[in-house]
Amino acid sequence: MHKVEPKTYFIDTFGCQMNVSDSEVVESILKKEGCVKASRIEKADMVFVNTCSIRDHAEKKVHSQLGRYAKLKIANKNLVIGVLGCMAQSLKEDLLENKPYVDIILGPDSYRKLPLYLKRSSKKYLNSVDTKLSRFEVYDDIFPSRKEGINAWVSIMRGCDKFCSFCIVPFTRGRERSRSVESIVSEISQAISDGFTEITLLGQNVNSYNYNGKNFQNLLEEIARIKGLWRIRYTSPHPQDITDKLLYTMSKHDNICNYIHLPLQSGSDRILKRMNRSYTRDHYINLVKKIKSFLPNVGISTDIIVGFPGETQQDFIQTLDLMSEVKFDSAFMFKYSPRRGTKATEYIDQLDEKEKQARLEKVIKLQKKHTLEKNENLIGTEVIVMVEKESKKSPNRWAGRTDSNKWVIFDKGDLQIKDLVKIKVTDTKGISLQGNVMSEMVRAS
Ligand code: SAH
Ligand code: SF4
Ligand code: F3S
Repeated sequence: MHKVEPKTYFIDTFGCQMNVSDSEVVESILKKEGCVKASRIEKADMVFVNTCSIRDHAEKKVHSQLGRYAKLKIANKNLVIGVLGCMAQSLKEDLLENKPYVDIILGPDSYRKLPLYLKRSSKKYLNSVDTKLSRFEVYDDIFPSRKEGINAWVSIMRGCDKFCSFCIVPFTRGRERSRSVESIVSEISQAISDGFTEITLLGQNVNSYNYNGKNFQNLLEEIARIKGLWRIRYTSPHPQDITDKLLYTMSKHDNICNYIHLPLQSGSDRILKRMNRSYTRDHYINLVKKIKSFLPNVGISTDIIVGFPGETQQDFIQTLDLMSEVKFDSAFMFKYSPRRGTKATEYIDQLDEKEKQARLEKVIKLQKKHTLEKNENLIGTEVIVMVEKESKKSPNRWAGRTDSNKWVIFDKGDLQIKDLVKIKVTDTKGISLQGNVMSEMVRAS
């Protein structure tokens, strides 16, 4: 009898960190089935793309990736092609109709079905589709198959109930639901024994976490006490659920990073209301003030959408003004992209592409100025950095982040990855800082 070779897989992941984390869950499921990761996509028996629908551009990237898969299937007609994630959920009819080479379509809550559908597709070559959203699925018992590294992504809640009028996520990810505190704590403890020193808690609205009466701040309190965990990050919180108690918890624990990603979207009350964002400009500005008072030297980043339907020059200027008042450390800035099925596509006053592009360039330019200003303010100060990787530009220098999420570049010396070091900031170039090592603080065992 000859030995049966294990089936090999390859996964491409697009979209947010939640998808990165979900792909690790999918890998874990595949490995349990005896499958192994292919060294190259051309060698795989199954290829999966974990997809994102957030903007048109994200979907285009997936379509072109699927074009590549179609070619692979010409060379290997037994290749199994699977589409996972948010586009599987939102575009299944289109995929079924126009991409006949796709064998498996699974939405974000259906990954447990993967082994079943793999068996089926190898026999009958039928499309297997499951995009049922669940009120309960949190993959609580599946330990993600992580690559070795520094940061482990830990998903703590899934879904979104906020229904911002521009956003497709509530439709692709379904309703909010949270994982148990025990399973999160035990997953983190395992990640630490696997060598991770940092974790990032993930959720579409991470601070809406609620499990049997335990809220996000209660969860953070428990996690902060886990031994060997040097850095705790989380993303993305919603401004409406940043409480005083949460800020107090952050200020009390050194291992909770001094950084908040606080998506703004717009600085105009009229647009915020149309976006269904549940806070006003004033509320946001006051919230930032409060955050800064609880957490001195905190890093604050944001998301901004320009060219939302009906956004006048006046509304747009309000966004620029708010940016100048708050001075974000960094920002992700986007042109509004109409998403099928969302409320904002119904507004008749859509802006043309040229205007959206012009506004985008303006916010990017302003943010660049603010980032530089904020970084220049740090010159001469001492910061604590965790060594993360080699600097892209110089092989004899390390790159690592401050707990406020700024990249710092410094000489390697005899430092190792995961060391915590004190660095004196000497200069700033682009978005990163340069510095000199003062002393090594802690080394991972
Ligand atoms: N849950 C997070 C955001 C997740 S989506 C929050 O509410 O803060 C990440 C970012 O993508 C959003 O903050 C928004 O700025 C952007 N985004 C979402 N839908 C978009 C659309 N239709 N067009 C352009 N940008 C969009
Ligand atoms: Fe989308 Fe709004 Fe939910 Fe964020 S809070 S995922 S922007 S609907
Ligand atoms: Fe994209 Fe889905 Fe994440 S739409 S941003 S992959 S939740």
